[in-house]
Amino acid sequence: MKTHTQPHTNGSSLLHHPPKHIVKKANVKDYEKTYARSIEDREGFWADEAKKLKWYKKWQQVLDDSEKPFYKWFTGGKINIVGNAIDRHLETHRRNKLAMIWEGEPGDVKTLSYHALNREVSKFANVLKSMGVKKGEIVTIYMPQIPELPIAMLACAKIGAMHSVVYGGFSVEALAGRISDANSRVLVTADGGWRRGKITDLKTIANEAMDRSPTIEVCISVKRTGQEVHMENDRDFWYHDLMQLPIAAPRCDTEVMDSEDPLFILFTSGTTGKPKGLVHTHGGYSVYTSSTHRNVFDIKDEDRWWCAADPGWITGHSYLVYGPLINGATIMMYEGAPNHPYPNRWWNMIEKYGITILYTSPTAIRGLMRFGEQWPRRHDLSSLRLLGSVGEPINPEAWRWYHEVIGRGECPIMDTWWQTETGGMMIAPLPVTPLKPGSATKPLFGIEVAVVDDNANEVQPGEEGKLVIKAPWPGMARTIFGDPDRYVDTYWKQYEEKGWYKAGDSARIDEDGYIWIIGRIDDVIKVSGYRLGTAEVESALVSHSDVSEAAAIALPHEIKGNAIHTYVILKAGVHGSKKLEEELKKHVSSEMGPIAKPENVHFLESLPKTRSGKIMRRVLKARAMGLDEGDLSTLED
Ligand code: WTA
Repeated sequence: MKTHTQPHTNGSSLLHHPPKHIVKKANVKDYEKTYARSIEDREGFWADEAKKLKWYKKWQQVLDDSEKPFYKWFTGGKINIVGNAIDRHLETHRRNKLAMIWEGEPGDVKTLSYHALNREVSKFANVLKSMGVKKGEIVTIYMPQIPELPIAMLACAKIGAMHSVVYGGFSVEALAGRISDANSRVLVTADGGWRRGKITDLKTIANEAMDRSPTIEVCISVKRTGQEVHMENDRDFWYHDLMQLPIAAPRCDTEVMDSEDPLFILFTSGTTGKPKGLVHTHGGYSVYTSSTHRNVFDIKDEDRWWCAADPGWITGHSYLVYGPLINGATIMMYEGAPNHPYPNRWWNMIEKYGITILYTSPTAIRGLMRFGEQWPRRHDLSSLRLLGSVGEPINPEAWRWYHEVIGRGECPIMDTWWQTETGGMMIAPLPVTPLKPGSATKPLFGIEVAVVDDNANEVQPGEEGKLVIKAPWPGMARTIFGDPDRYVDTYWKQYEEKGWYKAGDSARIDEDGYIWIIGRIDDVIKVSGYRLGTAEVESALVSHSDVSEAAAIALPHEIKGNAIHTYVILKAGVHGSKKLEEELKKHVSSEMGPIAKPENVHFLESLPKTRSGKIMRRVLKARAMGLDEGDLSTLED
């Protein structure tokens, strides 16, 4: 093992250079040269990346910027993401290659070759068609991490329907709101899933959510756990029943789509109000996810790729399902908790399946690190070649443990910064890039970033500012579903004159041009790498009959990165107690999902507000952390 260096949080850290054998085999050896070319001739670069895919008809224009900021990519082109993720592999040696290895939490295993995946997807696509699902319609998917989840996503895409995947850890309110916003007629779910040895009650939650969202006409459930669930006549069908009927024919034509036709919406939290549905397309998203996955993770045909994210979030969409399948990789998927039944569960699977690349979050690493090195040490992890990190900044301790204990000091860590809105990785090293622990390093090809102040001036090296992206890229979200004005206001308004995208993160760039992400500048919270909005937690709290007003903030947490702390004003006559605190925590958890459960609930007489009535969360945060409360001149009293 190599001796490790002491990383800093800025500037002059010692570099971790990639091992020689990694450099020798790298798909892209010269970052600087390729990057320079990708900026000088952006459209030429993306055209070359797009040519690696299967198009039914070639595009006429690479980038159409006539309606800024509503950019269009590869216009005139005809494509379907499934044509690339499945169909084209069937004509090659990959037909019989494993597309997916899946392990359920109780230990059951399923594998699917590309041939078998095609068959399952085609059958389910025909089932959806028989339920009247049409091109452009949005199907909501609410499932545990089982193979039928990617199958359902791919089946929608294949027939030109859009999917809206709702994370299986969300609860009634989150699911109901998303179904209604998407106007979904069809919901695909499961009776339940396995998590930490227990059954999650997906169908019960789905039933309650359907009661609140009357658009649903059809609900298809996978039988995963076999527990008793309520099925409504004329509405509810079992997946396995439908898949046995003649309607589930094994062949289905892949719909020819326009490059700009929408592929999916994915709801994510914003600064205010309800979560917004970001829209991604068939053309640009296919090009962007496959290109970034191939370049950053140096994908080879023999790789076994494990992205441990849930498909319910963007990381799962782009790098568990679409990017890797387009690149013809073998993907690994696991249903349950990383420490069930013992903290060696992940390490055991890496050894058992010969995983070559692991892509996960700092929270997962910190969570497993807590159990000690003896668990990974019991396993042969020598198949690992590269590691990845996503979702939140990775702290030096977690970086070092990941690098030394999991990666034997020999596997470079790709710390990748990106967002639901960006569709794919934006700032990340390549395997040949010298690393500084805690820095996502440099912008990827075709991506130009800057760190600026409110007046669009670039700040000095080492200074903190707002992260902006200076030019469009193919994977960018095209709009917010049903609310184009909000899309413009949220991301493009502040730097309108320059035409820059505002990421919502603060960052700094050091003297060597390495980028250090600091965190969100808005009311978005990253808890365990999951993205939540203070507004959603607050609205869950005030939906309780005892609460009149509520505020939520994020405070640092050793494992989760951030944790949610809340402050409430109770209705007149109601008194705060330990019992009520517990009840409110449970209420948020059952309305939104366990990830949104607050650490604590403080009862207050009043909340710090501006004279216009806006809650000053930064004042609450400063108080909680014992810091200077800052400028209080706008405080109401
Ligand atoms: C944060 C997840 C630091 C960031 C793909 C961003 C990160 C938000 C990193 C988007 C990273 C993501 N280092 N912070 N490598 N990756 N973030 O939409 O604050 O769930 O704005 O997409 O996660 O979260 P989202």
